[in-house]
Amino acid sequence: MNLYQPHLMSIEAVQDETPDTRTLRLAFRDPAVAERFSFRAGQFGEYSVFGAGECTLCIANPPTRRGYIECSFKAVGKVTRALRELEAGEIVGFRGPYGNAFPVETWSGRRIVFVAGGIGLAPVRCVIWNVLDLRERFDEVTVVYGARSVADLVYKRELEGWRSRPDVRLVTTVNPGGQEPGWDGEVDCVPAVLERAAPGSENAVAVVCGPPVMIQHTLPVLARLGFPPDRIFTTLENRMKCGVGKCGRCNVGPVYVCKDGPVFSAAELATLPLDY
Ligand code: FES
Repeated sequence: MNLYQPHLMSIEAVQDETPDTRTLRLAFRDPAVAERFSFRAGQFGEYSVFGAGECTLCIANPPTRRGYIECSFKAVGKVTRALRELEAGEIVGFRGPYGNAFPVETWSGRRIVFVAGGIGLAPVRCVIWNVLDLRERFDEVTVVYGARSVADLVYKRELEGWRSRPDVRLVTTVNPGGQEPGWDGEVDCVPAVLERAAPGSENAVAVVCGPPVMIQHTLPVLARLGFPPDRIFTTLENRMKCGVGKCGRCNVGPVYVCKDGPVFSAAELATLPLDY
Protein backbone atom coordinates (compact mmCIF):
# COMPACT_ATOMS: atom_id res chain seq x y z
CA MET A 1 0.00 0.00 0.00
CA ASN A 2 1.18 3.51 -0.81
CA LEU A 3 2.68 5.11 2.32
CA TYR A 4 0.55 8.18 1.86
CA GLN A 5 -2.71 6.42 1.01
CA PRO A 6 -5.24 7.35 3.71
CA HIS A 7 -7.87 5.08 5.21
CA LEU A 8 -11.37 6.35 4.52
CA MET A 9 -13.31 7.23 7.64
CA SER A 10 -16.81 8.55 8.13
CA ILE A 11 -17.63 11.22 10.65
CA GLU A 12 -19.84 9.49 13.21
CA ALA A 13 -20.31 12.36 15.63
CA VAL A 14 -19.48 16.04 15.95
CA GLN A 15 -19.10 17.62 19.38
CA ASP A 16 -18.42 21.31 19.94
CA GLU A 17 -16.15 21.61 22.98
CA THR A 18 -15.78 25.39 23.08
CA PRO A 19 -16.77 28.18 20.68
CA ASP A 20 -13.69 27.37 18.58
CA THR A 21 -12.79 23.75 19.41
CA ARG A 22 -14.53 20.72 17.98
CA THR A 23 -14.17 16.96 18.43
CA LEU A 24 -14.90 14.48 15.65
CA ARG A 25 -15.48 10.79 16.14
CA LEU A 26 -14.39 8.87 13.05
CA ALA A 27 -15.23 5.31 12.06
CA PHE A 28 -13.25 3.22 9.57
CA ARG A 29 -15.25 2.53 6.42
CA ASP A 30 -13.52 -0.82 5.99
CA PRO A 31 -14.42 -3.18 8.87
CA ALA A 32 -11.20 -5.17 8.30
CA VAL A 33 -9.12 -2.02 8.86
CA ALA A 34 -11.17 -1.17 11.98
CA GLU A 35 -10.50 -4.68 13.28
CA ARG A 36 -6.71 -4.58 12.88
CA PHE A 37 -6.10 -0.90 13.64
CA SER A 38 -4.29 -0.33 16.93
CA PHE A 39 -2.26 2.49 18.36
CA ARG A 40 -0.58 3.64 21.56
CA ALA A 41 -1.33 6.67 23.73
CA GLY A 42 0.48 9.72 22.36
CA GLN A 43 0.58 8.72 18.70
CA PHE A 44 -0.78 11.04 16.03
CA GLY A 45 -2.24 10.90 12.54
CA GLU A 46 -2.53 12.88 9.33
CA TYR A 47 -6.18 13.74 8.71
CA SER A 48 -7.21 14.74 5.20
CA VAL A 49 -10.08 16.79 3.90
CA PHE A 50 -10.32 15.94 0.23
CA GLY A 51 -9.54 18.98 -1.88
CA ALA A 52 -8.07 20.92 1.05
CA GLY A 53 -5.08 18.85 2.23
CA GLU A 54 -3.87 17.20 5.41
CA CYS A 55 -3.46 18.33 9.00
CA THR A 56 -1.62 16.71 11.90
CA LEU A 57 -3.64 15.93 15.03
CA CYS A 58 -3.11 13.62 17.95
CA ILE A 59 -5.44 10.67 18.50
CA ALA A 60 -7.52 11.91 21.42
CA ASN A 61 -9.27 8.67 22.41
CA PRO A 62 -7.42 5.97 24.37
CA PRO A 63 -6.03 2.77 22.82
CA THR A 64 -8.07 0.86 25.38
CA ARG A 65 -11.18 1.79 23.32
CA ARG A 66 -10.71 0.51 19.82
CA GLY A 67 -12.45 0.62 16.46
CA TYR A 68 -12.73 4.38 16.16
CA ILE A 69 -10.65 7.55 16.33
CA GLU A 70 -11.38 10.90 17.92
CA CYS A 71 -9.60 14.14 17.16
CA SER A 72 -10.08 17.60 18.64
CA PHE A 73 -9.02 20.73 16.78
CA LYS A 74 -9.32 24.48 16.42
CA ALA A 75 -10.01 25.89 12.97
CA VAL A 76 -6.74 27.78 12.56
CA GLY A 77 -5.58 26.89 9.04
CA LYS A 78 -6.94 25.96 5.64
CA VAL A 79 -7.39 22.26 6.40
CA THR A 80 -8.80 22.61 9.92
CA ARG A 81 -11.23 25.25 8.63
CA ALA A 82 -12.32 22.78 5.95
CA LEU A 83 -12.57 20.03 8.58
CA ARG A 84 -14.85 22.26 10.62
CA GLU A 85 -17.21 22.61 7.65
CA LEU A 86 -17.84 18.86 7.56
CA GLU A 87 -20.86 17.22 9.11
CA ALA A 88 -21.71 13.77 10.44
CA GLY A 89 -21.82 11.23 7.62
CA GLU A 90 -19.13 12.90 5.50
CA ILE A 91 -15.83 11.20 4.68
CA VAL A 92 -12.29 12.14 5.67
CA GLY A 93 -8.93 10.42 5.21
CA PHE A 94 -6.65 9.20 7.98
CA ARG A 95 -3.02 8.06 7.85
CA GLY A 96 -1.34 6.70 10.92
CA PRO A 97 -0.77 5.96 13.70
CA TYR A 98 2.62 7.65 13.66
CA GLY A 99 5.31 8.49 16.16
CA ASN A 100 6.28 7.13 19.53
CA ALA A 101 4.05 6.93 22.59
CA PHE A 102 3.87 7.57 26.31
CA PRO A 103 5.44 4.56 28.06
CA VAL A 104 2.23 3.81 29.99
CA GLU A 105 3.12 0.11 30.29
CA THR A 106 6.15 1.03 32.45
CA TRP A 107 4.07 3.05 34.93
CA SER A 108 2.42 0.22 36.85
CA GLY A 109 2.23 0.98 40.57
CA ARG A 110 3.13 4.63 40.07
CA ARG A 111 1.29 7.83 40.92
CA ILE A 112 0.33 9.66 37.76
CA VAL A 113 0.05 13.45 37.53
CA PHE A 114 -1.51 15.01 34.43
CA VAL A 115 -1.02 18.72 33.74
CA ALA A 116 -2.73 20.32 30.77
CA GLY A 117 -3.64 23.73 29.41
CA GLY A 118 -6.31 24.60 26.83
CA ILE A 119 -6.58 22.18 23.93
CA GLY A 120 -3.42 20.50 25.27
CA LEU A 121 -5.89 18.33 27.16
CA ALA A 122 -6.53 16.41 23.90
CA PRO A 123 -3.34 14.30 23.91
CA VAL A 124 -3.44 14.12 27.71
CA ARG A 125 -7.07 12.92 27.64
CA CYS A 126 -5.94 9.92 25.61
CA VAL A 127 -3.47 8.97 28.38
CA ILE A 128 -5.92 9.80 31.19
CA TRP A 129 -8.52 7.39 29.79
CA ASN A 130 -5.82 4.81 29.09
CA VAL A 131 -4.84 4.97 32.77
CA LEU A 132 -8.45 5.10 34.06
CA ASP A 133 -9.46 2.12 31.90
CA LEU A 134 -6.67 0.17 33.67
CA ARG A 135 -7.16 2.02 36.97
CA GLU A 136 -6.18 -0.81 39.31
CA ARG A 137 -2.66 -0.88 37.85
CA PHE A 138 -1.80 2.62 39.07
CA ASP A 139 -1.50 4.53 42.35
CA GLU A 140 -2.99 8.05 42.86
CA VAL A 141 -4.18 9.91 39.77
CA THR A 142 -4.13 13.72 39.79
CA VAL A 143 -5.30 15.95 36.93
CA VAL A 144 -4.51 19.68 36.91
CA TYR A 145 -6.21 21.37 33.98
CA GLY A 146 -6.66 25.02 33.10
CA ALA A 147 -7.77 27.28 30.28
CA ARG A 148 -8.05 31.00 29.70
CA SER A 149 -11.73 31.05 30.64
CA VAL A 150 -14.52 28.71 31.68
CA ALA A 151 -15.76 28.77 28.08
CA ASP A 152 -12.34 27.58 26.89
CA LEU A 153 -12.29 24.39 29.02
CA VAL A 154 -12.57 21.39 26.69
CA TYR A 155 -14.22 17.98 27.43
CA LYS A 156 -16.46 19.59 30.08
CA ARG A 157 -18.66 16.50 30.52
CA GLU A 158 -15.60 14.33 31.05
CA LEU A 159 -14.19 16.82 33.57
CA GLU A 160 -17.42 16.45 35.54
CA GLY A 161 -17.10 12.68 35.34
CA TRP A 162 -13.52 12.76 36.62
CA ARG A 163 -14.49 15.20 39.38
CA SER A 164 -17.10 12.79 40.70
CA ARG A 165 -14.73 9.80 40.81
CA PRO A 166 -13.24 9.02 44.22
CA ASP A 167 -10.12 7.63 42.55
CA VAL A 168 -9.21 10.83 40.66
CA ARG A 169 -8.12 14.17 42.09
CA LEU A 170 -9.11 16.86 39.61
CA VAL A 171 -8.08 20.50 40.01
CA THR A 172 -9.39 22.92 37.39
CA THR A 173 -8.44 26.54 36.94
CA VAL A 174 -9.02 29.53 34.69
CA ASN A 175 -6.94 32.64 34.22
CA PRO A 176 -7.90 35.72 36.22
CA GLY A 177 -10.86 37.35 34.49
CA GLY A 178 -11.88 34.05 32.88
CA GLN A 179 -14.20 32.93 35.68
CA GLU A 180 -18.00 33.03 35.52
CA PRO A 181 -20.64 33.29 38.27
CA GLY A 182 -20.80 29.90 39.95
CA TRP A 183 -17.22 28.90 39.02
CA ASP A 184 -15.85 26.99 41.98
CA GLY A 185 -12.45 26.04 40.55
CA GLU A 186 -9.19 27.91 40.94
CA VAL A 187 -8.42 31.28 39.36
CA ASP A 188 -4.74 31.35 38.49
CA CYS A 189 -2.30 30.04 35.90
CA VAL A 190 -1.74 26.27 35.69
CA PRO A 191 1.85 26.23 37.05
CA ALA A 192 0.84 28.20 40.19
CA VAL A 193 -2.15 25.94 40.79
CA LEU A 194 0.01 22.84 40.30
CA GLU A 195 2.52 24.15 42.84
CA ARG A 196 -0.23 24.68 45.44
CA ALA A 197 -1.84 21.31 44.68
CA ALA A 198 1.62 19.80 45.28
CA PRO A 199 0.98 16.22 44.13
CA GLY A 200 3.46 13.80 45.66
CA SER A 201 6.43 13.07 43.42
CA GLU A 202 7.60 9.89 45.10
CA ASN A 203 7.23 7.00 42.66
CA ALA A 204 5.30 9.37 40.35
CA VAL A 205 5.34 10.32 36.68
CA ALA A 206 4.00 13.54 35.17
CA VAL A 207 2.44 14.11 31.76
CA VAL A 208 2.39 17.76 30.66
CA CYS A 209 0.84 19.30 27.57
CA GLY A 210 -0.26 22.80 26.69
CA PRO A 211 0.97 26.07 25.23
CA PRO A 212 4.79 26.44 25.24
CA VAL A 213 4.66 29.20 27.86
CA MET A 214 2.71 26.92 30.20
CA ILE A 215 5.19 24.08 29.72
CA GLN A 216 8.07 26.50 30.24
CA HIS A 217 6.71 27.50 33.66
CA THR A 218 5.43 24.04 34.62
CA LEU A 219 8.74 22.16 34.24
CA PRO A 220 10.49 24.16 37.03
CA VAL A 221 7.46 23.64 39.31
CA LEU A 222 7.62 19.87 38.74
CA ALA A 223 11.36 19.99 39.45
CA ARG A 224 10.70 21.83 42.74
CA LEU A 225 8.06 19.24 43.64
CA GLY A 226 10.74 16.57 43.19
CA PHE A 227 9.90 15.06 39.78
CA PRO A 228 13.12 13.96 38.04
CA PRO A 229 13.37 15.00 34.36
CA ASP A 230 13.18 11.41 33.13
CA ARG A 231 9.75 10.98 34.77
CA ILE A 232 8.19 14.06 33.14
CA PHE A 233 6.75 13.55 29.64
CA THR A 234 5.32 15.92 27.08
CA THR A 235 4.36 15.85 23.44
CA LEU A 236 5.52 18.29 20.76
CA GLU A 237 3.85 19.51 17.60
CA ASN A 238 6.28 20.78 15.08
CA ARG A 239 5.20 21.67 11.57
CA MET A 240 4.62 18.04 10.69
CA LYS A 241 3.70 17.19 7.13
CA CYS A 242 4.56 13.67 5.99
CA GLY A 243 4.46 12.14 9.48
CA VAL A 244 6.89 9.40 8.50
CA GLY A 245 10.37 10.92 8.55
CA LYS A 246 10.60 11.75 4.84
CA CYS A 247 9.97 15.47 4.36
CA GLY A 248 12.36 16.85 6.98
CA ARG A 249 9.96 19.59 8.06
CA CYS A 250 9.60 18.64 11.70
CA ASN A 251 13.17 18.54 12.92
CA VAL A 252 14.26 20.12 16.20
CA GLY A 253 18.05 19.98 16.15
CA PRO A 254 18.97 16.37 15.41
CA VAL A 255 15.56 14.78 15.98
CA TYR A 256 12.51 14.34 13.78
CA VAL A 257 9.48 15.04 15.94
CA CYS A 258 7.34 12.74 13.78
CA LYS A 259 9.62 9.70 14.26
CA ASP A 260 11.69 10.29 17.39
CA GLY A 261 8.68 11.96 19.06
CA PRO A 262 6.18 13.43 19.45
CA VAL A 263 6.56 12.22 23.07
CA PHE A 264 9.72 13.32 24.85
CA SER A 265 10.82 13.27 28.47
CA ALA A 266 11.94 16.53 30.06
CA ALA A 267 15.44 14.99 30.16
CA GLU A 268 15.32 14.60 26.36
CA LEU A 269 13.83 18.08 25.86
CA ALA A 270 16.74 19.58 27.75
CA THR A 271 19.08 18.35 24.99
CA LEU A 272 17.04 19.98 22.19
CA PRO A 273 17.25 23.58 20.93
CA LEU A 274 13.87 24.61 22.40
CA ASP A 275 12.97 27.46 24.73
CA TYR A 276 12.01 25.04 27.47
S1 FES B 1 6.88 15.33 9.27
FE1 FES B 1 8.06 14.83 7.53
S2 FES B 1 9.97 14.29 8.40
FE2 FES B 1 8.71 14.62 10.12
